[in-house]
Amino acid sequence: MQRVLVTGGGSGIGRGIARHFADQGAEVTITGRRADALKDTDGGRGMICRSADVADEAQVSALFDQPFDIVIANAGIGHTAKLVNTSLADWQNVLDVNLTGTFLTFREALKSMQAGGRLIAVASTAGLQGGPNIASYVASKHAVIGLVRALAKEVARQGITCNAVCPGFVDTDMGDAAVAGVAQKFGISQEEAAARITSGNPMRRMITVDEVVSAVAFLASPGASMVNGHSLAVSGGEI
Ligand SMILES: NC(=O)c1ccc[n+]([C@@H]2O[C@H](COP(=O)([O-])OP(=O)(O)OC[C@H]3O[C@@H](n4cnc5c(N)ncnc54)[C@H](OP(=O)(O)O)[C@@H]3O)[C@@H](O)[C@H]2O)c1
Repeated sequence: MQRVLVTGGGSGIGRGIARHFADQGAEVTITGRRADALKDTDGGRGMICRSADVADEAQVSALFDQPFDIVIANAGIGHTAKLVNTSLADWQNVLDVNLTGTFLTFREALKSMQAGGRLIAVASTAGLQGGPNIASYVASKHAVIGLVRALAKEVARQGITCNAVCPGFVDTDMGDAAVAGVAQKFGISQEEAAARITSGNPMRRMITVDEVVSAVAFLASPGASMVNGHSLAVSGGEI
């Protein structure tokens, strides 16, 4: 049976990924800080729910008391502010969760991962292009893609692949927060804010969780065995 670990499995994209693999018959471990959210994701599927903060070295290490075949570093946070107003604490927090969390997750996974293993990071189109008022997030996601590219070359001879998926705006709590932030900033409705946010996407709509899950499922599938170091945009053609 395939063993799958999903960080940030208590909501949004991570929840969709975890449920996909569980419904396929894998043994799925999900992690995040909120135990109740993990339980909601499980919904009786028999997932292993383990609370952990991905930015905490000891807590991440403790998750890997067994080897995993597929490890998805999905946990992440956003932060919206002009760079000039970004505190060091906010900057550091975004890097700690998005970048260091991915580093720790992949490093600990590699200590026991066997040939055929798959490391997948949920990055963002913000890892492939810039955008105003989200410099810490953009920097963290560019760095995640750098990590994926470097690690892909390092682990290739072990028969392990390392890839990223890069969604545009996805209809999750994080996507909702972005819409609410734009609505508040410009004094416009949620609908107008959503339209503004998706205006850079040629398909002019939010991406669904299932559309991101499909990309992750492909990278984890046997058919993707020669895809390595790739950043797969799920963005309707935005980039
Ligand atoms: N939604 C979008 O538009 C979008 C677009 C591109 C990329 N992404 C990326 O997709 C990933 C998932 O985001 P989402 O949209 O599904 O948002 P979400 O619903 O807010 O999910 C983020 C998850 O990360 C977990 N998390 C946050 N900080 C953590 C920490 N320190 N330790 C452990 N877990 C932590 C949260 O759980 P706890 O709070 O319980 O810890 C939560 O379950 C993120 O990496 C995000 O950057 C999202």
